[in-house]
Amino acid sequence: MAGARHRLIAPRAPLTAPVAPTIEAVGDVDVTSTRMRSSIRAAVERYVIRGGREGYDRLLLLARDRRPDTAALLQRAGAGPGMRCADLGCGGGEVTLELAALVGASGSATGVDMDGLKLDLARAAAARRGIANAEFVELNVNEWNETAAYDLVFSRFVLQHLRHPVDMLQRMWAAVRPGGVIVVEDADFDGWCCHPFNDGFEFFLRTYGQVLARSGGDHTFGRKLYAGFIEAGIPAPDVRLVQPVYLEGDAKWLPWTTLDASGDAIIAEGVASAEEVQTALASLSAFTEDASTLISGPRIFQAWARR
Ligand SMILES: C[S@@+](CC[C@H](N)C(=O)[O-])C[C@H]1O[C@@H](n2cnc3c(N)ncnc32)[C@H](O)[C@@H]1O
Repeated sequence: MAGARHRLIAPRAPLTAPVAPTIEAVGDVDVTSTRMRSSIRAAVERYVIRGGREGYDRLLLLARDRRPDTAALLQRAGAGPGMRCADLGCGGGEVTLELAALVGASGSATGVDMDGLKLDLARAAAARRGIANAEFVELNVNEWNETAAYDLVFSRFVLQHLRHPVDMLQRMWAAVRPGGVIVVEDADFDGWCCHPFNDGFEFFLRTYGQVLARSGGDHTFGRKLYAGFIEAGIPAPDVRLVQPVYLEGDAKWLPWTTLDASGDAIIAEGVASAEEVQTALASLSAFTEDASTLISGPRIFQAWARR
């Protein structure tokens, strides 16, 4: 399985020089003007997982693993021909492209993300697959505001990164036209586990939660999704829980790739040293390669409601 890791993750310099954050944390500020509130919202968190080409490759791995569960969710929520859809924090755009295929030529799918490089790669994938009804927009989702514009508004694994996830749910709900649906998936990272014990895996769980919290996010947000819907004024959401388990294969490398991609932020935030990250990665790599070990994915909460 080491081969699989090297296929997916391009070699790069060791974790010694942290990458400067693109959006600085400014903390909570009490402001009254809508314009100021919106610019504060845009600045209060940053994304802790490395983006760009490496981030795209990691998200492809994630998308391949999550595809059956997300496809079943979209089917339950009634995604179908002619619908106009939005996918917020779309990353590499795999769900956006899935939605575009589901809704057909009479519908459309718009993916929104702040990582322009991932969006370029998503556009290239759309062109390669001959998908003409998908578009990708580079934008901070905290700045995204539309009213009754979509039949389906979707987001996966983004709310846990935001300082104001309920605010985002409210804006997603406002963008759903009457009769349309909001569909959200988010993870509870406390649900990950492995057997037998591995110190690299434990390091991944502990440091990821800490660095996410310091950047304004919440690694347990998945379990709070239902409460978030209620707080956002979204009535009667349907909620399901799915949880993957990995014995072998590319997806078993997701904890390793996530720790590797969060390493810069973990070091920059002073959560751990570069040496500690390298030691944990080496331990987790050997553990992941071992066919006798088991790794579960996080608990993934799926919620949707019709307007
Ligand atoms: C864990 S990835 C999930 C990507 C995709 N939804 C999926 O399930 O494959 C989170 C994505 O959210 C994006 N993101 C995080 N915070 C964002 C923000 N404030 N505005 C726009 N995109 C954001 C990141 O660039 C990243 O692509």
